[in-house]
Amino acid sequence: MAVEEQREPRWIGKSVARSEDERFVRGRGNYLDDIKLPGMLHMAILRSPYAHAKIVGIDTSAAQELPGVVAVVTGELLAQHKLAWMPTLSGDTQAVLATDKVRMQGQEVACVVAENAYVAHDALELIDVDYEPLPAVTSPQAALEAGAPIIRDDKADQTDNRIYHWEAGDAEATERAFAEADRVVSLSTHYPRVHPAPIECCGCIADLDPATGHATIYMTSQAPHVHRTVFALVAGLPEQNIRVVSPDIGGGFGNKVPVYPGYVVATAASLLLGRPVKWVEDRTGNLISTGFARDFHMDGELALRSDGKMLGLRVKMLSDQGYSYADAQPTKLKAGLFHVVTGSYDLPAAHVVTDGAYTNKAPGGVAYRCSFRVTEASYLIERLVQTAAYEIEMDPAELRRMNFIKPDQFPYQSATGFVYDSGDYERALDIALEGLGYDQLRQEQRRAREEEGRLLGIGIASFTEVVGAGPGRDYDILGLKMFDSAELRVHPTGKAILKLGVKAQGQGHETTFAQIVAEELGIPPEDVRVEEGDTDTTPYGLGTYASRSTPTAGAATAVIARTLRDKARKIAAHMLEASEDDLEWDGASFAVRGAPGSSKTIQEIAYAAYTDLPEGLDAGLEGVKYYDPPNMTYPFGTYAVVVEIDRGTGQWKALRVLAVDDCGVRINPMIVEGQIMGGLTEGFAMAAMELITFDEEGNCIGSNFSDYLMPTAWETPSFELHETVTPSPHHPIGAKGVGESATVGSPAAFVNAIVDALASAGVRNIEMPVSSDKVWKALSEVGLAE
Ligand code: CDP
Repeated sequence: MAVEEQREPRWIGKSVARSEDERFVRGRGNYLDDIKLPGMLHMAILRSPYAHAKIVGIDTSAAQELPGVVAVVTGELLAQHKLAWMPTLSGDTQAVLATDKVRMQGQEVACVVAENAYVAHDALELIDVDYEPLPAVTSPQAALEAGAPIIRDDKADQTDNRIYHWEAGDAEATERAFAEADRVVSLSTHYPRVHPAPIECCGCIADLDPATGHATIYMTSQAPHVHRTVFALVAGLPEQNIRVVSPDIGGGFGNKVPVYPGYVVATAASLLLGRPVKWVEDRTGNLISTGFARDFHMDGELALRSDGKMLGLRVKMLSDQGYSYADAQPTKLKAGLFHVVTGSYDLPAAHVVTDGAYTNKAPGGVAYRCSFRVTEASYLIERLVQTAAYEIEMDPAELRRMNFIKPDQFPYQSATGFVYDSGDYERALDIALEGLGYDQLRQEQRRAREEEGRLLGIGIASFTEVVGAGPGRDYDILGLKMFDSAELRVHPTGKAILKLGVKAQGQGHETTFAQIVAEELGIPPEDVRVEEGDTDTTPYGLGTYASRSTPTAGAATAVIARTLRDKARKIAAHMLEASEDDLEWDGASFAVRGAPGSSKTIQEIAYAAYTDLPEGLDAGLEGVKYYDPPNMTYPFGTYAVVVEIDRGTGQWKALRVLAVDDCGVRINPMIVEGQIMGGLTEGFAMAAMELITFDEEGNCIGSNFSDYLMPTAWETPSFELHETVTPSPHHPIGAKGVGESATVGSPAAFVNAIVDALASAGVRNIEMPVSSDKVWKALSEVGLAE
């Protein structure tokens, strides 16, 4: 086996312009609603106005008579085909169309299929549903009270509203740590319900060909292969006859991972009618019925020595899951990635208790710019650390520094069983403090308060994310192991096509994955076409969410490119009449060591792979790799925020936001920065304004963009970005997922900054979202409002 020479990277680490932007910025993307098939029908969904009600009857006759209506589908009709209920990604069930009851506002009750979308929507108003309203359960605490209405009475074994009770860590060791502690700091907090709200809502076109029985389903899907398998299982269609195609996707953020009723009804309608059926969701449908994020009620206790050393962590968490449990939950990791609640700290003991409850709300709990539930965990530990800093009167940066896992402790096994791969947390903190001019800023904060009565706040949040699921031994979706795949084919002219099991929704895979091929095989990125999202042509994969694409499919790409390079070496040896061991690889060609001018480029070798092969070697230059990572990767960082609060209005303004991120080796620094800025914006949004709530009847407040507030460029602060690079030891090129860690750190950092500013006035524990009236009320209570 030839020994590889160490080379400087040629393509990794370069901010190559995004090749996909050619079509995106010119409005030439091909999104679901751009696709029009001959004879296509249009579907609209009737949704429940009640959060909880019995369905007494549904009269569809008037709708059916409206000219242009082709069919009206109800749950009763679907039940005849055993399609009224479907499985969720965590093995629960969810109604496709309601039969017995509606269990959330916005639940799908009936669908109209018509010659055009206008008629379909008009016909919805002609459907008469007779509801008998029932009391709604709108909080998980109320759901678990004795005597609460049982929401899932359709399930024979469900006698209350509890979905799960799981524990992680060591209860006894944690008990001992608390017994030895000098101080115990506690905090109860709620990470409120928010929504990923991608600009493009969900939708599909189901096209079942009655002649061949072949189904092509165009879908806004972040996980097309998994969805194909779910379709095969739900609809009983042979899997080889189903082709799921995810075209360009206008943002996913976890929202396009679950299977939604609209997909299933459109497919059933196409099967029954023999014509293509398109369903495109509207904004309200998206906000009230599809996968939400967060909604964790958390009680944390941190045991400390009087010098600040953390000894133990106890957490109780209650999750509001909505009426169906639909997180993409790996079956073996019972507390989910909430396990990482020990954060970046060397905590000797931890015990985590998690409960989930049904409520009359939409299901979800999706990986909205984070891994499954990591954000909530990181938010809690950072709020606890900040609270501890106030209580023991220690500088919050120093408290963190003292307790960080140190570089020589990696690989580090956490108290809840995770093995962190690598990190240098102190360095990230130092860069943030230096960038901020921390010591001087603290003085300025005091001076401004004492001399001018101005309220400045400084917030810090350090975080460790866990991304890149698998490995398959621990992570699965419905039993499907979380590996991913890459198939690479080099054509005779030296141009290549790379096919992946993941599917981007704007992350720039067409550019970054081509850079990996370029680095490993010497074919320039512009000569590598990256294809994703078509299950007929791409190898099986678990999809793109939770920052897993680079650590899994990116690794598969590097490995298969190296395998092809090994074959290219054999062909080059034959072409150059030299021994393989005498060949040197310079990143684009093989040459005989010590014989300048004797070289063959990868393009020449590719041609020879089809025209001039050594004896015994198969023709072609192609292969497929299924890559199961040995571990998750652990990106990390520190964020710092400076805010000023207006004492007259309670309005707060971020004066500075400084982010230090480490995602290992950056393939494309420009794309990574874009990802981080996106995450920071969402962190700011959650801290400041994004919120979905419900009134006591279960009406969703936040069903449109005038109630559900998202920041524009106008409100969003500027970000100062810094980086450190601690490679992942097990990733072939040292990359970790970006982690979109901003949503971890920044809501905590923003909230901490405001708490910090108010703390000088004796007000603590402001909760998200931090509206100006909330702050003004807090200021008034201590006589500080002007
Ligand atoms: O799964 P998803 O694509 O959302 O997340 P990711 O793997 O963290 O990657 C997001 C984008 O950042 C992709 O285009 C990656 O290739 C790129 N990236 C990078 O350039 N360098 C890294 N170390 C990690 C991600």
